Amino acid sequence: MPDPDLTEQQQADLLTAARAAQTRAYAPYSHFLVGAAVLDEHGRVHAGCNVENAAYPQGVCAEAGALSAMVLAGGTRVRAAVVVGDGAAPVTPCGGCRQKLREFAGPDTPILVADRERLRARFTLAQLLPDSFGPDHLTP
Ligand code: THU
Repeated sequence: MPDPDLTEQQQADLLTAARAAQTRAYAPYSHFLVGAAVLDEHGRVHAGCNVENAAYPQGVCAEAGALSAMVLAGGTRVRAAVVVGDGAAPVTPCGGCRQKLREFAGPDTPILVADRERLRARFTLAQLLPDSFGPDHLTP
């Protein structure tokens, strides 16, 4: 089922990129491999994977990597995001990543959750992070 805010091609490209990123995850401690991809305002896709660390709290999530890649490439807005992970429950972005996405996305931005085989859920950012704090709050 195509997403109403995304072309089929964009959705397919995001899923492909996030799944490819998942295979590169460095997760020797949790063994929980996550890939993420974001679509920027230019229609470009940027991906990331989780990168854990022996000092456990220093690990970074897949979404953070994808956002970092977007910023490095000059992207300033997230038009859509996909998170890919395995398990019984769909791998929704963690709380910190919801806030990180919020920096570059709007309340209606689609956040898709998938696994290796299928799309499992679709949310808007506002559903995942209602009444959120963002850059506008810092404007007097
Ligand atoms: N993880 C992500 O990469 N993104 C999320 O939104 C959920 C959790 C990673 C962090 C850690 O490396 C592993 O999954 C287990 O929590």
